[in-house]
Amino acid sequence: EKSIYQKGLQYERPPFSFHPEQWEPAAEQRMSADARGYVVGNAGTGETGRKNREAFKKWSILPKRLVTTKGLPDLSTKVLGQRFPFPICVAPVGVQCIFNPDGERASAAAAARDGVPYIMSTASSTSIEDVAKANGDGVRWFQLYWPSRENDDITISLLSRAKEAGFSALFVTLDTYILGWRPSDMDNGYNPFLRSDNIGVAAGFSDPVFRSRFKEKHGTEIEDDLHSAATEWTGTIFPGLSHGWDDIQFLKKHWDGPIILKGIQTVEDAKMCVEVGVDGIVVSNHGGRQVDGGVSSLGMLPRIVDAVGDKLDVFFDSGIRAGADIAKAMALGAKMCLIGRPYIYGLALGGEGGVSHVLKSLLGDFELTLHLAGIESASPEHLNRDVLIREDQ
Ligand code: FNR
Repeated sequence: EKSIYQKGLQYERPPFSFHPEQWEPAAEQRMSADARGYVVGNAGTGETGRKNREAFKKWSILPKRLVTTKGLPDLSTKVLGQRFPFPICVAPVGVQCIFNPDGERASAAAAARDGVPYIMSTASSTSIEDVAKANGDGVRWFQLYWPSRENDDITISLLSRAKEAGFSALFVTLDTYILGWRPSDMDNGYNPFLRSDNIGVAAGFSDPVFRSRFKEKHGTEIEDDLHSAATEWTGTIFPGLSHGWDDIQFLKKHWDGPIILKGIQTVEDAKMCVEVGVDGIVVSNHGGRQVDGGVSSLGMLPRIVDAVGDKLDVFFDSGIRAGADIAKAMALGAKMCLIGRPYIYGLALGGEGGVSHVLKSLLGDFELTLHLAGIESASPEHLNRDVLIREDQ
């Protein structure tokens, strides 16, 4: 078996650049102004988004020499009681059909092909069942935007459909009960969930409980009043602040499998996650799209790992753009990294093949970074804080 890097060199010609910093500008040229604003945009002045990136540069990798290893590093990692070949997964991103007509089908197929778990968003432009089909025998996890407790029947319906369709873990996003203050979308007057083509609500419109609720209330089918239905679905999945820590028990009752809470940024909240008995957390600030002037996600990672890392699985995202970033997050204690915007740029640039190019590039870069730094594997035994130095202290 050749290294990912060697496979990379065998590409006759890559679908687009191997330079990670070129993916965003290249994709920007391909996208509509609305789609561009939606994916690139951050909350407010963009301060949190910038800090996410700057935090990575405060840490540097210390390369070791003459380390005798058995060969290329073992990149596997253990999360949720299972070993996975690579320590990355595809982050949940909604309304992917605005970036490429194949949307989630393309990204779910690429993830399965590359052996990377796929997290499907509740806000997908494709139904749960169709994403599952495209993902085939890949590992897939479902991300919940959690309806308020008056809509428990809809939550239960989404969870049982996800289970039925082979989604094996539940990621519950806690930082997006309403969308952030996003000037790019506001300048464009753009809400991807309220487009006239209804791309943004396909996952909701395919839900039988949501459909019958709507009919009961309005006396018409969704198809007869698409605008109201889209508004109602959006209100259902972004219900405003409506849950407390006690409500986690409801999810545990209705989801038979691991539960991971996404959007944790403080030690206090991480400890609450242990207390309510979930299986994991994602240290994430939604890529800087929710709270402006917030902390960097990587900056909080080591403290959170110190507090709870031995009690649940710590996933990480926000700001990862290259292989070295994955190495740093893992060294600071993450067990797996979620890849966000980069694969969406791949989707915009080349559909399924574009997503695959991004995932493989990141993994090849990560593999070679470890190898050249004399780090024998991605497990905490080798990839830990000893391989990093803070250069700003
Ligand atoms: C997201 N993210 C997100 N998260 C989630 O839980 N459900 C969702 O539907 C979405 N949708 C979404 C759309 C777009 C366009 C972006 C860019 C992001 C957040 C995502 O899962 C992840 O946390 C961030 O993308 C990570 O930050 P980076 O890697 O993009 O900096």
